[in-house]
Amino acid sequence: MNLKSLIRDIPDFPKPGILFRDITTLLCDPQGLRYTIDILAEKCGNLEMQVDCVVGMESRGFIFGAPLAYRLGSGFVPVRKKGKLPAAVHRIDYQLEYGTDSLEVHQDALTPGSRVLIVDDLIATGGTASATAKLLEKIGCELVGFGFIVELKDLQGRKHLPDVPIISLVEY
Ligand code: PRP
Ligand code: ADE
Repeated sequence: MNLKSLIRDIPDFPKPGILFRDITTLLCDPQGLRYTIDILAEKCGNLEMQVDCVVGMESRGFIFGAPLAYRLGSGFVPVRKKGKLPAAVHRIDYQLEYGTDSLEVHQDALTPGSRVLIVDDLIATGGTASATAKLLEKIGCELVGFGFIVELKDLQGRKHLPDVPIISLVEY
């Protein structure tokens, strides 16, 4: 199946000069959505290490992370933007294009030694995925790999990630 044909391009969103790769058109295609989860589960299920937990980043990482966790028979842990999680959190601050932001995860969601797979819809600069990896490493988790639907190759986000398998289904 041609997943690229189901992803819509929106020029100048959210700012002039950005070509937004919109996965909502893929999500509302029944065969496309099923195929995406099936192929991601197949590739992630074939990684060397078994996955105890899928970690997905707010918000589009939740859409793919939870069904993937279901398919892998693992748990799902959300990493959220600051102030959204109700219980005690671990936090990491990270650089955005302009300024900084923070990501948080519940302190009791993961334990040292948990084997985690980080999942998001898209990797651009790699800032979000790299901050998430650092947050999980601080907790003592073992990183199994990364799974993305879309990779924006020109931005070279993967060079900011640790040396573990990086899966992406569609490249631009
Ligand atoms: C988007 C996307 C990734 C991140 C990728 O999320 O879903 O999480 O940007 O960019 P990066 O590799 O340069 O960090 P966004 O922050 O727009 O939030 P959203 O999922 O809530 O739309
Ligand atoms: N997140 C960061 N850059 C993006 C892009 N070009 N399209 C969709 N989501 C993004």
